[in-house]
Amino acid sequence: MARIELPTLCHDDRLSLAGSCRTCLVRADGQIVSAVSPPATPGAAVEVGAEDLRALRRDAVAAWSAVPGQ
Ligand code: FES
Repeated sequence: MARIELPTLCHDDRLSLAGSCRTCLVRADGQIVSAVSPPATPGAAVEVGAEDLRALRRDAVAAWSAVPGQ
């Protein structure tokens, strides 16, 4: 198992929104999914560093940063 650090906002047991912030997007077996919901299956091909994924994560953080009260 590889251990890869990804940005997260909603992956916290105290929150009911787990899996909704999209700051941890990865490509798993060709599909763009959040890394926290559902968890990756053993043997899945997971890509994290592609520029399109980085841009999507940046956009998600920017969108959450623009929400009033955050
Ligand atoms: S941490 Fe929120 S969807 Fe991944």
